[in-house]
Amino acid sequence: MKYISTRGNIAPIGFKDAVMMGLATDGGLILPESIPRIDRETLLAWCKLPYRELAFNIISLFADDIPKEDLKALIDRSYASFGHPETTPLVRKDGVYILELFHGPTLAFKDVALQLLGNLFEYLLKERGEKMNILGATSGDTGSAAIAGVRGRDNINIFILHPHLKTSPIQALQMTSVLDANVHNIAVEGTFDDCQDIVKTLFNDLPFKKEYALGAVNSINWARVLAQVVYYFYAWGRLPEQQEVVFSVPTGNFGDIFAGYLAKRMGLPIEKLLLATNENNILSRFVASGDYSLGQVVQTVSPSMDIQLASNLERYLFYLFDENPERVRNAFAELQQTGRIVFSEAEVKRVQSEFLSCTVDEKQTLETIASFNRETGYILDPHTAVGVRGALECLPGGASVICLATAHPAKFGEAVEKAIGFPPPLPPQLAALEGLETRCEVMDADREKVKRFLQERA
Ligand SMILES: Cc1ncc(COP(=O)(O)O)c(C=O)c1O
Repeated sequence: MKYISTRGNIAPIGFKDAVMMGLATDGGLILPESIPRIDRETLLAWCKLPYRELAFNIISLFADDIPKEDLKALIDRSYASFGHPETTPLVRKDGVYILELFHGPTLAFKDVALQLLGNLFEYLLKERGEKMNILGATSGDTGSAAIAGVRGRDNINIFILHPHLKTSPIQALQMTSVLDANVHNIAVEGTFDDCQDIVKTLFNDLPFKKEYALGAVNSINWARVLAQVVYYFYAWGRLPEQQEVVFSVPTGNFGDIFAGYLAKRMGLPIEKLLLATNENNILSRFVASGDYSLGQVVQTVSPSMDIQLASNLERYLFYLFDENPERVRNAFAELQQTGRIVFSEAEVKRVQSEFLSCTVDEKQTLETIASFNRETGYILDPHTAVGVRGALECLPGGASVICLATAHPAKFGEAVEKAIGFPPPLPPQLAALEGLETRCEVMDADREKVKRFLQERA
């Protein structure tokens, strides 16, 4: 399998190079040259496979330059860290299915991808005799999942910046209580934007980036998308009947839902993908009317989806534009100049043939957490609640719908308590964080200081 860029200016590369490249060197995103099709017979044969076997069958189609035994071992190791025997169990509640993606080490769906990415990085760096310094900014959630993915691994250091005292106390502890020597937390006296600015500036310092082999773990890495494709197949196989389904996906960066789009293109019988956003609804506007114009980010109770620029949308646009990289380049130039991308009527129709969309505001999110809990006893996290609300409200009656549960409710305990009147029970991993020893460098929002800190520890 070869990989290309949405912007059309890299020579085709193999899977291993695609993982190491992250963002394509021409500024685009990496995609496979072709998408394998899985016939119905194979789909049915895969139906009841254990998660890791299914993951191997799917990932090996795309990662054909890693010996099979090695890939199997990498996948086994990645999902051994999950606390549920099914890895991503499917449960039925109140007429909808909930796909629980939060049984990994940090109780968020990001673990599914970042556990695999950490193992892949370690494997590839060893093979190449190279080292990597991962640098990233987090508003809370991605940082802990990235740290959990690479803690204690050979040839990798990780430097994660978070805004000092502006994440939830649990999120901060999930990062700072990791004491492995290769993990470096920096609490910046400033906002998340300050953290991100520092990281961006250091990545743009090309000699520094090269000398210190800076690496990223954000959702533009192809391996992250690929790992997420697996659970769409897994969920479908766990349904009592293998019929067409709708997946409802709480969306911010378009990464998770793009994995569903790939699964659909691979032949999984997905009738529609329901794209559910909070008030930061540029993506649901795009689906509803083709309006892709940037607005201001507003803060909500589902903070991990408080995003305007959805970086993974570019991957979908490549297909929407009939795999024409020039049209992709023009669209992003237009976005930069005018703050919007204009789509033709035919393009909007095509989007609507594949996606449904809805916007769920804060009041509706909290109401959904409360009513779902009253009716089923089940506690949704605010991100999951956005998708569940979408499913209950926007779907034609009778459709089978699987809602992706992207975080454990205890990670967003304050919002959940506001909705149901009591805090969600803390799972043992989170309860155990209380009182643990922590390590973290508090620092001014000063990129030179961050740079020096990294240089001294790389
Ligand atoms: C808990 C949670 N739910 C949903 C999302 C949205 O996923 P995506 O950004 O891939 O659309 C995120 C993203 O960070 C998240 O952390």
